Amino acid sequence: MTLPDKKLLWLALDRRPPGAAGALDGWTLCMARTLNEAERAVRTHACQVGLLSGLGPAADPAALDRFLGAHGGLVWLVLAAPGVLDRPEWRELVRTHAHDFHTEPADPRRLAYALGHAHGLALLHGHRAPASVAAHTELTGNSAAIARLRAQVARLGKSDAPVLIWGESGSGKDVTAQAIHAHSRRAGGPFVPVNCGAMAPQLIQAELFGHLRGAFTGAERDKAGLIESAAGGTIFLDEIADLPRELQSNLLRFLQEKTIYRIGSTRSISVDTRVIAASNVNLKQAVAQGKFREDLYYRLNVLPVTVPPLRERRDDLPELTDHFFRLYAADKPRHLKGFSGAALRAIASHDWPGNVRELINRIRRAMVLAEGRQITPDDLELAGADPAGAGDGLGRLRTAAERAAIGASLQRAGSNITLAARDLGVSRMTLYRLMSKHGIAAPK
Ligand SMILES: Nc1ncnc2c1ncn2[C@@H]1O[C@H](COP(=O)(O)OP(=O)(O)O)[C@@H](O)[C@H]1O
Ligand SMILES: [Mg+2]
Repeated sequence: MTLPDKKLLWLALDRRPPGAAGALDGWTLCMARTLNEAERAVRTHACQVGLLSGLGPAADPAALDRFLGAHGGLVWLVLAAPGVLDRPEWRELVRTHAHDFHTEPADPRRLAYALGHAHGLALLHGHRAPASVAAHTELTGNSAAIARLRAQVARLGKSDAPVLIWGESGSGKDVTAQAIHAHSRRAGGPFVPVNCGAMAPQLIQAELFGHLRGAFTGAERDKAGLIESAAGGTIFLDEIADLPRELQSNLLRFLQEKTIYRIGSTRSISVDTRVIAASNVNLKQAVAQGKFREDLYYRLNVLPVTVPPLRERRDDLPELTDHFFRLYAADKPRHLKGFSGAALRAIASHDWPGNVRELINRIRRAMVLAEGRQITPDDLELAGADPAGAGDGLGRLRTAAERAAIGASLQRAGSNITLAARDLGVSRMTLYRLMSKHGIAAPK
């Protein structure tokens, strides 16, 4: 039996050359010093293991959390300077995404062992190269909302028009985009995700459209952009609202003419790439504020798709919970058999502001930490199914703030539920549920 090449992605955020080199014997190393470089590396190399170093003030925990969340297909190790893991944001990141961590300076022998172990784990799990999207294209859930979404995905696969996916963070926009791609005639072509919010504005143009050699300092050779590299397939522009205005024009031109210009070139190249965009902010509002081009908005919004927040499709919770428990079963202690009734009730009554991503994170964490045969609300770090959610100090504050915000909105809206819901950015159903949770009477 031949084992696949051992490929390691080293994301060194402090840009320092890697030490502990002895630990890397036998590995093919892909170095990345920024999230952009790492995104590219993940797309082009089938690395099984990721090593993250350089956590500190210069790194952005939220962007990293998104990146690692999107690339959970790799087994991640963290190499941290002393003291870094005393900071709650980094502890949380490591707890959520890392399989193991080491303090610098790392002992090369221990690190080599840990990397080998991570590689074995990756093979065991059948972690796939992220290029194969098949593993992520199924929308799990049996609520009416998910059934509608699945039907919509199948329909959208038949078209070639742009799609705009709207949904809160963690609700499943990426999976939905991948599912649309997988159901389209482009399924055999590349699926190229780009996070418009995670890239420096001055880099996005070169990344998306490519450049000629010498087009700017550092452009040492001609390079195709991501739109070109997605030819025959789909480019997924996540957080499209963050696309700088100048680039909105370029994108619009691409959507209208199906051609692009690399930076520094006057020659147009025609490219057959489908665009799927996603946003977690209200783009229409961004248009009203002059931050987003109206013509681009209409162009993208030909086929709008909404992924509802998890709290509005609670019927999905049992199936999703079961799905993720089985998905991560290889990490769990042998004695762990499932969830306690109290845990399931806590899951059912939690509000899931972080949506499916939060559910995954809580379940993964609980599966590693649980000491008994069953996962408890404590393992999930959820207060028991107390309807007011007033377990700890923060929970109480949050509950009070929520109640106050709802009260204020209802008052402003003259008790008009539709207006108040819009004001709060939730659906009417959610507002009704929140009112009942807080014992606020519905207007007559
Ligand atoms: N319906 C679903 N079935 C299975 N997994 C899901 C579903 N919705 C979301 N996920 C998973 O939850 C995580 C967050 O989803 P993602 O699509 O990245 O959210 P978003 O792009 O809206 O922030 C991903 O790991 C994704 O695979
Ligand atoms: Mg996403």
